[in-house]
Amino acid sequence: MKTILIIGIGAGNPEHLTIQAVNALNRVDVFFIMDKGEAKGSMIDLRREICARFIAAGRTYRFATAQSPPWDRNSGEYNAVIGNLNSDKQAIFEQLIAGEMQDGETAGVLVWGDPSLYDSTIRIMTDIAASGRHAISYDVIPGISSLHALTAQHRTTLNTVGQPVEITTGRRLAEGFPAGTDSVFVMLDGDDTYRRFADDDRIDIYWGAYIGTADEILISGRLKDVAGQIAQTRAAAKQTHGWIMDSYLLRRRKS
Ligand SMILES: C[S@@+](CC[C@H](N)C(=O)[O-])C[C@H]1O[C@@H](n2cnc3c(N)ncnc32)[C@H](O)[C@@H]1O
Repeated sequence: MKTILIIGIGAGNPEHLTIQAVNALNRVDVFFIMDKGEAKGSMIDLRREICARFIAAGRTYRFATAQSPPWDRNSGEYNAVIGNLNSDKQAIFEQLIAGEMQDGETAGVLVWGDPSLYDSTIRIMTDIAASGRHAISYDVIPGISSLHALTAQHRTTLNTVGQPVEITTGRRLAEGFPAGTDSVFVMLDGDDTYRRFADDDRIDIYWGAYIGTADEILISGRLKDVAGQIAQTRAAAKQTHGWIMDSYLLRRRKS
């Protein structure tokens, strides 16, 4: 039997690692790394830094790196594109399991933020285990998500008293402000979708980019007042770094 540990590493600050995650790191023989290209090299650097910092001296471990499959989110219907991407990722994980670990060994997959939030690693491992092609067991170690990192950095709450929250993507937010909630957490928004609501005087925004890292940028205020500043800051940061990871909380006031 081979063991896979899906370990949440937090949203960019090595100090997000939980003690449970540190203990899990110290059980791993081989870390599977999906390389998403040069622009996102700093995300791989963080994974290596975490291993160097939290794995006990004298414990040996190795990295098995594979190129993340290429994809284009505009190449077809969104769910179909993501389905194909995940099939490609599953094939790569199966190659790593078959070729890069011995029976009885433990592999670690270091997942950004929390593995249950907008990440397919759990679904992929569930499918691999169910396929019967590999004798694996897998466990999930939770991590601090970008959602919790953002609310903490802005010193705000995710929800208002007794009210629900919606967690969604920029693509879905483009369909309108969700009904039945006053708080919407938005991830994976490459299109500045918050700007569509900039005329609504009752909405506040808490925005953050590269949260938890040395490059962190935070902006908050009345959406009407700060939407332009966020868009400009976002564009400039993307140009400087070559890529951006940002998310935001929209909160609609009663008056
Ligand atoms: C594929 S999802 C993964 C989410 C991750 N599993 C989590 O728990 O945060 C990637 C999105 O998470 C958000 N994100 C992740 N890390 C972030 C960070 N450090 N700062 C701002 N947003 C972040 C961005 O919206 C990004 O597009």
